Amino acid sequence: MGNTSSYSVGYGKHVVSLFTKRTVQQQAQHLIPYLKPSSTILDCGCGPGSITLDFARYAYAGAVSGIDLEHSQIEFCKNAAKEQGISNVEFKQGSIMHIPFPDNSFDIVHAHAVLCQLNSPLDAIKEMMRVAKPGGIVAVREMDWRANLIHPESPLLVKEYQIRKQAIDKMGGDYFIGGKLRGLFNSAQFAKVEAGASCEVCGDAGSITEVSHYIAKQWEDAPFVKLALDEGWVNQEEIKQIQQALIDYAKQEDAFRAWTWCFAIGHKS
Ligand SMILES: C[S@@+](CC[C@H](N)C(=O)[O-])C[C@H]1O[C@@H](n2cnc3c(N)ncnc32)[C@H](O)[C@@H]1O
Repeated sequence: MGNTSSYSVGYGKHVVSLFTKRTVQQQAQHLIPYLKPSSTILDCGCGPGSITLDFARYAYAGAVSGIDLEHSQIEFCKNAAKEQGISNVEFKQGSIMHIPFPDNSFDIVHAHAVLCQLNSPLDAIKEMMRVAKPGGIVAVREMDWRANLIHPESPLLVKEYQIRKQAIDKMGGDYFIGGKLRGLFNSAQFAKVEAGASCEVCGDAGSITEVSHYIAKQWEDAPFVKLALDEGWVNQEEIKQIQQALIDYAKQEDAFRAWTWCFAIGHKS
């Protein structure tokens, strides 16, 4: 899979707006020791491109490319690069399963929050390895929903997650991929593999409100919701209840959420 129709959260304004806040410092810190001014970097499944553009700031004397399956995201990225005056970057429509670059092209090949949508993540990693230069690296960061925390828990918020996961499973993705990355990278036979994890935390009213409203908004029109409705796993009345539970949750002073993001870095011989 890994085609546009299997992309579970879609390209609504609220999704793009949340993703454009992403930075190298927060989402690709594991790569900072490897970033050089002259690096050549490919960002696969770049979405609205905020991480990609940030790579271009680190690699100001190098060259950065971003690819995404979705045309609207590529147009968004091109406009953002122009607005931000970043010229050492290019964006192309393309799939991580068939990367539109020759073998041995990049020092660093990166993907963030992309492999969880694919039904053959190992093939994607091998394809990323193909376009990495000898001595270069491939880096992937993905959430693992087995290690996510929600407090205080409520039946509707648990249901929110369970339906979402059921839909992702049906679409061919994997919400438990984070902890599997080290094994996948070992299977791809890199010369050396590093693995680690970090937490994304919502521990104050501002971040809890932002994320809860973002999730509530997803329940309006995201592809995973359409699938859940079609399958009869949820109805419109229950969707309203889930959305209200998220809004109410955001108002609780004790609310605290943490998500575990795992990464693997593979060194190509
Ligand atoms: C959750 S977004 C992450 C975007 C960006 N990497 C970030 O972290 O902000 C996942 C992106 O992967 C893209 N995608 C999904 N399957 C893909 C594939 N097979 N090849 C390339 N991009 C893909 C989607 O279009 C979407 O823009």
